[in-house]
Amino acid sequence: MPDTPEKNELTHLIDERALARRVEELAREIAAKSQGVDELVVIGLLKGAFVFMADLVRALSRCGVRQRLGFIHARSYGSGTISSGEVRLGRDLDLDVTGRTVLLLDDIQDTGHTLSVATRYLEQAGAARVMTAVLLDKPSRRELPIQPDHVGFEVPDRFVVGYGIDYGESYRYLPYIAMLADDA
Ligand code: IMP
Ligand code: MG
Repeated sequence: MPDTPEKNELTHLIDERALARRVEELAREIAAKSQGVDELVVIGLLKGAFVFMADLVRALSRCGVRQRLGFIHARSYGSGTISSGEVRLGRDLDLDVTGRTVLLLDDIQDTGHTLSVATRYLEQAGAARVMTAVLLDKPSRRELPIQPDHVGFEVPDRFVVGYGIDYGESYRYLPYIAMLADDA
């Protein structure tokens, strides 16, 4: 086996079992709020939400929620671990959301700019209702007064990785959430 560099640089924060349990709970909360919706349109923000989305949509299916899935590419410009607040969306939504109930997913909410811009985009595209869910929330860093409808876990103001979340495109594949060491 090659050396795993993450060993020295990472501190575990949320393990696989806790993630799986919380995703099932989120699915039940969201299913309860989706009653009467014939088919939920679930939109994931790439790339970070892809693992969370893969687990959540299957958990929603176990709760009996029919879905249609789509993705939007979102980039928050900044350097290193600091978000700039400037968000660009790849306008490549491949689903018609007109009149639909949409569930927008992101990996982590930090300043709030990404979720705010993406919500506005879906509303302008004609969505009747946009619900938001994030796996992680760093409320201490919020710059906009917005709160996701569903939050998996609150995390401290530290840079986190794993379960889809990256640092410079590394670590997305980790099955758990970890904090990056300050000197990594
Ligand atoms: P916001 O627009 O500042 O709310 O930031 C949201 C985006 O910043 C998320 O979609 C993540 O891609 C990224 N981000 C924020 N905090 C972290 C972190 O701790 N680790 C990795 N990415 C993060
Ligand atoms: Mg992101």
